[in-house]
Amino acid sequence: MSSTDHNQEKNKEHYEKLYANYNISNILHWINNLEKFLNSATTTETSWFGLYQNNFREKIKGKKVLEMGCGDCTNAAVMAALGAEVYANDIASESGEIVRKLNENYTFKQPIVFVEGDFLENNLTSKSFDFVVGKAFLHHLTIPVEKLFLKETARLLKSNGEARFFEPAVNSKVLDEIRWHIPIGGRPSKFNKDAFKIWKENDPHPDRSFSSQHWEKAGTAFFGEVEIIPVGTLERFSRFFGWGERRNRYKRWALKSERFLPGFLNKPFTRSQLIVYKNPRV
Ligand SMILES: C[S@@+](CC[C@H](N)C(=O)[O-])C[C@H]1O[C@@H](n2cnc3c(N)ncnc32)[C@H](O)[C@@H]1O
Repeated sequence: MSSTDHNQEKNKEHYEKLYANYNISNILHWINNLEKFLNSATTTETSWFGLYQNNFREKIKGKKVLEMGCGDCTNAAVMAALGAEVYANDIASESGEIVRKLNENYTFKQPIVFVEGDFLENNLTSKSFDFVVGKAFLHHLTIPVEKLFLKETARLLKSNGEARFFEPAVNSKVLDEIRWHIPIGGRPSKFNKDAFKIWKENDPHPDRSFSSQHWEKAGTAFFGEVEIIPVGTLERFSRFFGWGERRNRYKRWALKSERFLPGFLNKPFTRSQLIVYKNPRV
């Protein structure tokens, strides 16, 4: 088995388990209180703030949108509840089960369509989507597989369409090394060699570049226009604020303010990024 296949197998195994028997009640609560949910998520959560920047919420209404790596399908459900015609894919077929339950329990203007199986084998029509999006998705692919997904994105987008990918950013090697040595959540410190090795074997992220420069270069192969928007340079310090409203207040301030930082600070120190590709070249 090649390392690329191994990475896809690892992702499938990991996420099938994570989404098995998924309880959709939270998602239903959020889409039944859509404005309230989005007002909060897009001002305090980096991935929602990032993906929904520049009026995405309004832009997708009535538009045909494809989400790659839809995961637990929260974003697919939100976009469909906003009035978009949503197609969603994930390597985990359990995501399809979540889509089925969502369609059964909520009357979307148009039910979400789950594109089952290997996305690179899809039969979707060329130039048929207004938006292609991914949230924390591309960095789960090896670089050769990512190239195929970006090529497919360019094929599927209308000529005036737009792709948006919200991804982590690692633009400073020094910061990255420090990060690996600080234990966080279930991830042990690199200092703890044995535990780190075991963690790494089960981690669904391939070893690859997460740099803005990489995604800039990868995009120019298939798109005439590439924009990288840093997200999280100041927000990353929210972890020092504990939990609750104090933390959220800081996050709201940080996400609003950090866009005014000069590029020489914002780019190397950003935690995440929104990658925008337009003008597909096919
Ligand atoms: C970090 S999760 C993000 C899920 C969701 N977008 C979110 O924001 O919560 C990454 C997702 O990418 C999916 N994935 C990984 N490799 C994939 C592939 N080759 N094709 C489709 N989906 C893939 C995983 O199954 C997982 O659901």
